[in-house]
Amino acid sequence: MKQTITTIQKAKGQRKLTMITAYDALFARLFDEEVDFILVGDSLNMSFAGNNDTLSATIDQMIYHTKAVCNGAKNTFVITDMPFGTYYDKNIAIQNATKVFQETNASAIKIEGGKEQFETIKYLTQNSIAVVGHIGLLPQNFRSEGGYKIKGKDQDAIESLVEDAKAVEEAGAFMIIVEGVKSQAAKAITEAVNVPVIGIGAGVDTDGQVLVWSDMFGFFEEFKPKFVRQYLNGAKLIKDGLKQYISDVQNKKFPSDDEIY
Ligand code: KIV
Repeated sequence: MKQTITTIQKAKGQRKLTMITAYDALFARLFDEEVDFILVGDSLNMSFAGNNDTLSATIDQMIYHTKAVCNGAKNTFVITDMPFGTYYDKNIAIQNATKVFQETNASAIKIEGGKEQFETIKYLTQNSIAVVGHIGLLPQNFRSEGGYKIKGKDQDAIESLVEDAKAVEEAGAFMIIVEGVKSQAAKAITEAVNVPVIGIGAGVDTDGQVLVWSDMFGFFEEFKPKFVRQYLNGAKLIKDGLKQYISDVQNKKFPSDDEIY
């Protein structure tokens, strides 16, 4: 069943929600109707486009991939990331989010940041753009913070994250992603708000989990974060298949009589 904002909100405390990223129709079709949500994350700028961080992703790039994902996942709630620099004030944010909604079938957008995004999230949601918040470790701060820094390490930091979550909820976000925080912080956040909290690198106490598909299926070999569980060795499967194909061609075993016209 395709989720709606109402069914998503009712799920809190009832069952764990599942989310996975996708960047194209091929994989979106495999994930369709299996998970509760598909996120077209700006992580595509790293794993799909081969860049070092997410910061150079553009709105047109996100729209291109979101269209493809929506073509593949017709029965799943699709969320699109707003890339760096596309929501630095509420007027820029509404222009870019409207473009995403007009040009794709995404059901919601996601923006990074806590209290500082209050006005922007409020303005978007008041103008019929459904928003998912994203707090904790913010990948779009990679350059300004000099790397990926785990958050919520002491009581003050936990309280500040809880304030972020409450501000994002009060502004109108219907769900919050919390990334890269100590598990006590994620638990406190999840208990403090009425909207579902989806964790990534945030422990087991959130209302659900999200993983980047290429990490969890072992296709992104450059770096494996500690929180990722690898469910498949995708890179090995592909490389083994490729070696077999090369060998078959070189040894005239492909194509066979059954594979010709
Ligand atoms: O871009 C992305 O894939 C994300 C997830 C890590 C939550 O934002």
